[in-house]
Amino acid sequence: MATFKLLLLPGDGIGPEVMAEVETVISHLERTGLASFAIERDLVGGAAYDAHGKAISEEAMRTAQAADAVLFGAVGGPKWAGVPYDARPEAGLLRLRKELGLFANLRPAICYPALADASALKRELVEGLDLMIVRELTGGVYFGEPKEIVTLETGEKRAVDTQLYTTGEIDRIARVAFDLARARGNKVSSAEKHNVMKTGVLWKEVVTKVHADYQDVALEHILADNCAMQLVRAPKQFDVIVCDNLFGDILSDVAAMLTGSLGMLPSASLGAPDPETGKRKSLYEPVHGSAPDIAGQGLANPIAMIGSLAMALRYSFGLGEAADRLEAAIKSALAGGVRTRDIAGPGANAVSTKDMGAAIVRALENG
Ligand code: IPM
Ligand code: MG
Repeated sequence: MATFKLLLLPGDGIGPEVMAEVETVISHLERTGLASFAIERDLVGGAAYDAHGKAISEEAMRTAQAADAVLFGAVGGPKWAGVPYDARPEAGLLRLRKELGLFANLRPAICYPALADASALKRELVEGLDLMIVRELTGGVYFGEPKEIVTLETGEKRAVDTQLYTTGEIDRIARVAFDLARARGNKVSSAEKHNVMKTGVLWKEVVTKVHADYQDVALEHILADNCAMQLVRAPKQFDVIVCDNLFGDILSDVAAMLTGSLGMLPSASLGAPDPETGKRKSLYEPVHGSAPDIAGQGLANPIAMIGSLAMALRYSFGLGEAADRLEAAIKSALAGGVRTRDIAGPGANAVSTKDMGAAIVRALENG
């Protein structure tokens, strides 16, 4: 039986609570003899800042580099509002993404039938929704230099962020999107702003070129603002949306809410396959944040975190069937009426984080 090296970085806020439920699921997978996991745990975000004065320690970075996959909870909270910019909790996550080379961020948005009424949109608009946002994750305005605030001679300040993309960066993320589309609905919508931005012009040009290798997949170019509008008007028109780092950040929050709750959405961040071993570095995290307002109360929804483990099974461990079973267990727990507060609807009964985790493990046992 294969042993996988897994690093757990629960982070801040509700991160540790939802990660605890992932550990429950992992124990179950081990009990069934599916795989064994060599688990390491470390700090990230505010928790790492409190312990080491930085958002992730060198040792945790080394463990992450050596892991088959990293599972990441969430970072940040008001407690760290005043820490230096370079040590802010989010810096830990951004460093992991950059140094592990995790350029491809997959953010699926699936609306389970049982939850269609929890969406802010009408049931008929979202029921059966199944789209995938492919967000470029190591380039663009998040990392472009210069990135600074300078004081001018007049005493006025000037802030600069730099949006920057090379053909290579666009080419490789476009290929990820087309490959995924082939295994899904065979359609890619490429979102950019070529009407305003040079990076948009290049983005469109390179995606069009890559499309020549994927003639069997339908490609549409869509302006990113129109894409945002279409996502809330008629989201089921989309299959795979590919876009840059910042547009992907925003569009994926929109897509998340279509499904009923931010607490539902997992994500995978993948690097390039190693030319020799074919292995790729990877990190899996819920799309939601650390939710400090509900942290420590057992109210958080662990589904996005558990769904992230399912993505790890599929994309890092070659356990697609186990991933299918875990996703089916989530669906079945929901169909059985188990709801955390975020998806319960006003006045309805809600269960705790632990109860939701237990319901999913039960569904796995019975499934
Ligand atoms: C996300 C988050 C992060 C981002 C933050 C926490 C840095 O919003 O993963 O979508 O902006 O990428
Ligand atoms: Mg975001």
